[in-house]
Amino acid sequence: MNSQTRDPERKPVTVPGLRAMKAEGRKIVMLTAYDASFASCLDLAGVDVALVGDSLGMVVQGHASTLPVTLDQAVYHTAAVARGLSSSLLVADLPFMTDRDPAHALEAAHRLMAEGGAAMVKLEGAGHICVVIEALTERNVPVCAHLGLTPQAVHRLGGYRVQGREADVAERIFDDARAVAAAGAQMLVLEAVPAELARRITGELAIPVIGIGAGADTDGQVLVVYDMLGITPGKRPKFSKDFLREHGSVVAAMAAYADDVRAGRFPGPKHQY
Ligand code: KIV
Repeated sequence: MNSQTRDPERKPVTVPGLRAMKAEGRKIVMLTAYDASFASCLDLAGVDVALVGDSLGMVVQGHASTLPVTLDQAVYHTAAVARGLSSSLLVADLPFMTDRDPAHALEAAHRLMAEGGAAMVKLEGAGHICVVIEALTERNVPVCAHLGLTPQAVHRLGGYRVQGREADVAERIFDDARAVAAAGAQMLVLEAVPAELARRITGELAIPVIGIGAGADTDGQVLVVYDMLGITPGKRPKFSKDFLREHGSVVAAMAAYADDVRAGRFPGPKHQY
């Protein structure tokens, strides 16, 4: 799909629709967005899910981590992205520490959904986070969990590195995946884990599993939009690819990414661990 015209047949993507896509074996295509213009491009390109990731702290604000992103900033960017979308589902990250307990997470999710227009919120980790996921789910807030390399834990992890290469860490991630799904998460992002671990988790869970640096055998893929357009300064992550280089416009690059994910051409062996 390389057209600049909106597909009139395209229906809005919904949370239950994502689960149906997994059941039907249709790959889910997800990209980050931080403003209305890029949101409109990804919607036009037929990308299923727009994620207002707290990566905005790094790629938009120029910080060294996602930790400085505030709830006000996340709400501002989520509302901007919402104005650019017509069919893609909008997911927003809970910024660092806004998920420290159910009360704060409920307050943050309220703002991201009511002011920002998000349909789902994403939060990192398991353990005490499972109680938070339960509280959100009970109040009709769809939740996307995030395991593996969880950027808000960068200081504990000692950097942005692959997680789950050692058998005990892989088993812990596997158990955490089961725990967040049991707590009510409706989707799971797995970041920078070995492809084999991601394949096992995807087979185990009924909810869709979206990979980033997690191999080709997940139910879908997500990339940071500036990485896949070759805009991010410095070295591009191993798992990303510059789609703009071979395609003439931002929409065409996003559509090529969507086509490649759906056809199983991306990620390839050189984009995985
Ligand atoms: O913040 C973000 O952009 C993310 C994706 C990398 C999944 O969490």
